[in-house]
Amino acid sequence: MSTEVYWFSGTGNSLHAARRIAEGLGDSELVPIAGSVGGVEALPERLGLVFPVYAWGPPSIVADFIEEMPAGSPEYVFAVATCGASAGSAMSITRRLLKKRGISLDAELTVKMVGNYPPMGGAPGPEKAGKRLEEAEKDLDAVVGRLKDGFRGRQGGTNPFFRVLGRVVYPLFRKHVSDSAGRFAADDRCTSCGICVRLCPVSNIELGEDGRPVWGDRCQQCYACFHWCPEEAVQYGRKTADQNRYHHPGVSQDDMLEQGGGA
Ligand SMILES: Cc1cc2nc3c(=O)[nH]c(=O)nc-3n(C[C@H](O)[C@H](O)[C@H](O)COP(=O)(O)O)c2cc1C
Ligand code: SF4
Ligand code: SF4
Repeated sequence: MSTEVYWFSGTGNSLHAARRIAEGLGDSELVPIAGSVGGVEALPERLGLVFPVYAWGPPSIVADFIEEMPAGSPEYVFAVATCGASAGSAMSITRRLLKKRGISLDAELTVKMVGNYPPMGGAPGPEKAGKRLEEAEKDLDAVVGRLKDGFRGRQGGTNPFFRVLGRVVYPLFRKHVSDSAGRFAADDRCTSCGICVRLCPVSNIELGEDGRPVWGDRCQQCYACFHWCPEEAVQYGRKTADQNRYHHPGVSQDDMLEQGGGA
């Protein structure tokens, strides 16, 4: 069965999950969602979507991707969401978006990995993150096993409170996802290395005349720029200087560049 696993990721959790799934299923192509919006011509027999949970829903770019997908009827469609705490309504929103394209979502799975959202405290320290990732590997084993067996249904129940919150907050998140340019800044530790420019999956960053990054109006709030800066120079608002920076230890900068990104 031809399989394509479409993925989006800011700090590597979802890329790691997508790779584990593609390896487990075998004969699967990994395709970055960034750069593929509106560009898919035909759907495979088995279609997978792997993405982080943002504001208890799918990232805006993932929703855009689904809305631009061609018509088709894959034999098996699965979605796997990685999250820091609760997936909320990520799966029900994804299911509804797919349904509007005439595609039914067969398997809905979520994996708790490591949170990375700076406005809500950011990522935990390395020890706590490491412990969580050990647990997440076991959860990923189970996810891969289920997908290999052609599981149909929903795995990983979510708290009803967060599902309701998602329904209210997510539309606002999506509407304002790109309004954050003014909140990003690079501090004096910036060496003008350009890594943030290259890693932004939507080419939203340029280096200005002073060599410091300038953020544009296409942000998807993935926080790759924040977490991957080798100097920890990228700040979001005024309270992030002391926050932990995080990326999945099994994912490198080069791996993230597969997502397209800046020049
Ligand atoms: C903008 C944003 C919003 C987030 N919202 C949620 C959320 O609603 N629930 C949750 O459990 N985690 C949330 N997170 C955490 C991510 O879902 C989690 O860290 C995910 O595994 C990151 O995947 P990645 O490494 O592939 O980017 C959020 C992260 C970001 C950047
Ligand atoms: S990654 Fe960090 S150090 Fe490099 S240009 Fe961006 S902000 Fe500056
Ligand atoms: S500007 Fe930063 S947070 Fe926004 S999409 Fe690019 S890398 Fe992600």
